Amino acid sequence: MNSTGFLRELEELKDGRLRDLVAGGAAPAPDPAGGGQVRLLQIALANEIGASEMAAAWMPTTPEIDIKIALARQTGDEARHFQLVADRLEALGFDPAGFRPPASNPLFDYLRGLPGSVERVAAGLFTLESIAYGVNESFMLLCGERGDLETLRLYREFIQPDERAHQRLGAHLLETHARTPDLQARARAAVLKTIEIAAALRAGAAARLGTACFPGC
Ligand SMILES: [Fe+2]
Ligand SMILES: [Fe+2]
Repeated sequence: MNSTGFLRELEELKDGRLRDLVAGGAAPAPDPAGGGQVRLLQIALANEIGASEMAAAWMPTTPEIDIKIALARQTGDEARHFQLVADRLEALGFDPAGFRPPASNPLFDYLRGLPGSVERVAAGLFTLESIAYGVNESFMLLCGERGDLETLRLYREFIQPDERAHQRLGAHLLETHARTPDLQARARAAVLKTIEIAAALRAGAAARLGTACFPGC
């Protein structure tokens, strides 16, 4: 399949699977007070630093220069998101200096283990960033309901435009590089596996938090 047709098909597949995952996040929170803002923003901290470390870890073993530079950009953007959220947490009375990310996370463990550049782009920039954009939109709705307009502003003005740009960069890189049936099959498998792991993790976390409206990366 030519790469433009492949990308169109992959976008449709991804968007279909994501609808379910994000729809869970858009549903009314079972408990409107579930997972206070400080708790939910700590999840954002863990996700942002996880995404930054993932992109940084991939860089040295990604030979294609356009993908390498995209990973460098993502590393920096996600680190900036971490700092924005950390500053917001500090304003809410939580000291981010004491924050330690979880030792392991099944989604980032899977992503870090992906060996090929096309799979990395498909799973990371293309899919993880689409998940992030969708679930962040749900989180922003919750922030609005709770009157946390400053967090809402940070997401609207700074974080979401970057997550959207990462997703578009991923689509462009897939169109450029996923040019053989084998690479296209690997990309498709990586998209599906990423969504499958993320959906399971988010369902578990939603049950613990009492809300499905928590941020991604
Ligand atoms: Fe981010
Ligand atoms: Fe991101």
